[in-house]
Amino acid sequence: MLRLENVSHSFKNGNEVLKVLHNIQFEVQKGEMIALLGSSGSGKSTLLNLMAGLMKPTEGHIYIADQDIVKYGENKLAVFRRKHIGFIFQAYELIPTLTVRENVELPLVFQSVSPSKRRKKAMELLEMTGIGDKAALYPSQLSGGQQQRVSISRSLITEPSVIFADEPTGNLDTKTEEEIIRIMMALNESMNTTFVIVTHEMEVAAQMKKTIMLRDGYLVQPEEYTRPAAGGSKAPNASSLPSGVEVHSEGAGEVS
Ligand SMILES: Nc1ncnc2c1ncn2[C@@H]1O[C@H](COP(=O)(O)OP(=O)(O)OP(=O)(O)O)[C@@H](O)[C@H]1O
Ligand SMILES: [Mg+2]
Repeated sequence: MLRLENVSHSFKNGNEVLKVLHNIQFEVQKGEMIALLGSSGSGKSTLLNLMAGLMKPTEGHIYIADQDIVKYGENKLAVFRRKHIGFIFQAYELIPTLTVRENVELPLVFQSVSPSKRRKKAMELLEMTGIGDKAALYPSQLSGGQQQRVSISRSLITEPSVIFADEPTGNLDTKTEEEIIRIMMALNESMNTTFVIVTHEMEVAAQMKKTIMLRDGYLVQPEEYTRPAAGGSKAPNASSLPSGVEVHSEGAGEVS
């Protein structure tokens, strides 16, 4: 479904070159839900933007549905992105002048889907995320958690191969965060959509079956993932990870 081969990325600031990702390599299978973990500045958003085709890596290959998106030109990439990739942002990024339902429908407007079909699909997704009754309201009339449900519904409407979420619960309180994660997990189950979720929160990561960790632009994780060391905002290095501990979705977040 998603495969990275030797992905490196550098930013140029004048004469200075800052390498922020080093030979990143991993695979995500169809229907998997993975957490991308790491401390601030470790390169999570950069990696997510590369995988979502919003930027091109300095080196390497990114395969989505067997297509190397690094090789694509701007136009082809834009078309591919619309069809295969969904994105959920920390700040929801809804359009304030459109209703909740119209926001969810929007990606299909660009695909020339008929208004009645768009509307039906948007309503189905809003029901699935538990805010069908808010369809006619505007984003500003919703709570943060409700706005993020709109954004999740919008990301799903094109039935993308993979959804990338950059700290989707970063602006939410713990209870709402749990609700949003639960919704994404239920959608992952029922629709078999692949999710890659960037998070700072160990509690969020612990609920995913698989976790990938970045530290200073390097991949930390072993292929079969072990539970990250709890506590502290700084990502632990590989040697501090307990080995052989598999993370299961049951008993999530509890370290006994
Ligand atoms: N457009 C840019 N130009 C130059 N440097 C950048 C740019 N974007 C990010 N960086 C640098 O790349 C590194 C990784 O940034 P990135 O945003 O990917 O980190 P992050 O893991 O998402 O952090 P956070 O958890 O704080 O969101 C940082 O050192 C950052 O300063
Ligand atoms: Mg970030």
